[in-house]
Amino acid sequence: MFSNKKILVIGSNGQIGTVLTNKLGEKFGFENVVGTDLKTPKISTKFIFEACSVLDKEKLLNIITKYNITDVYLLAAYLSAKGEQNISKAWDLNINGLLHILNFAKDKKIQKIFWPSSIAVFGPTTPKDNVDQYDVAEPTTIYGVSKLAGENLCNYYHYKFGIDVRSIRYPGLIGWESMPGGGTTDYAVDIFHKAFKNKKFTCFLSQNRILPMMYMNDAIKATIGIMEAPTDNIKIRTSYNLSSLHFNPKQLAQEIKKHFKDFKITYQPDERDDLAKSWPQSINDFHARNDWGWEPNFNLSQMVNDIILNLRNRYKNN
Ligand SMILES: NC(=O)c1ccc[n+]([C@@H]2O[C@H](COP(=O)([O-])OP(=O)(O)OC[C@H]3O[C@@H](n4cnc5c(N)ncnc54)[C@H](O)[C@@H]3O)[C@@H](O)[C@H]2O)c1
Repeated sequence: MFSNKKILVIGSNGQIGTVLTNKLGEKFGFENVVGTDLKTPKISTKFIFEACSVLDKEKLLNIITKYNITDVYLLAAYLSAKGEQNISKAWDLNINGLLHILNFAKDKKIQKIFWPSSIAVFGPTTPKDNVDQYDVAEPTTIYGVSKLAGENLCNYYHYKFGIDVRSIRYPGLIGWESMPGGGTTDYAVDIFHKAFKNKKFTCFLSQNRILPMMYMNDAIKATIGIMEAPTDNIKIRTSYNLSSLHFNPKQLAQEIKKHFKDFKITYQPDERDDLAKSWPQSINDFHARNDWGWEPNFNLSQMVNDIILNLRNRYKNN
């Protein structure tokens, strides 16, 4: 397929990367998509794969030059729960990885960057509901601190050097194609697999812990949507608030019970519940809708139906 884009996805084996690489391949041609991650994926990929750490600047630049990369989606990161266990590594990966890519753009090696931030930039001093784009952001996790610093780096590089870097603050993401990598909302993926395997699930968040969440299909739509929007429409160069769903574990379990009558959930909140407690419950994404036309497709029951339909096929075939 002809495309004037050559895309590099860094962190292509992860929860988002697994789905995003395939969607980008379908849209722009698999020969125009290169994935990188620490290890070669277990299942062979339709896109080109090169093992490389984002912290290995020299090797990364070789890959960028070899494939004439124009657009980079930088997904490699230490997530919230994992980050608390290794503060220095989380800071190193989340900030220096981003700096490498921003500097490649500054040196005209690449043209456009997508880098995701998170609702974790908000903290206990942020209002809980309908959080505005410009509400107080005083995070209390190293993950949130690094994302907030990253947002400001993106903004700085845009205004100082004209770098076309685009970002959204993902809520907790839920999908059926891939497993999450150490975040506080991982429960919302695991619960589906446990419903299929043994009809019971122990949740590490408390039952009433409401968080902003989103179906992976909508997250991918937003990701490609912001990257494809005309440059002039991107008015915020830190990171856009993004919203679709908000629910607690009890509400998710009730939806799942509509499909598995004897499904049982119990609650054993751990330290991840404390992280979740510091975050907002719902987000106002007026600017994303207004500037580049963001609109989600899935409500809670539509998401649950779609995940169960797809997992039913997967478990039947395994
Ligand atoms: N999944 C969510 O719910 C969520 C929510 C908010 C923000 N985000 C952000 O989205 C991005 C992707 O998240 P994800 O859920 O896919 O994460 P993930 O942990 O599932 O995937 C990250 C991938 O990066 C790889 N990686 C780690 N260190 C690397 C390195 N040095 N070089 C290259 N690759 C490396 C990992 O092997 C992994 O495959 C992250 O920036 C994350 O902060 C995710």
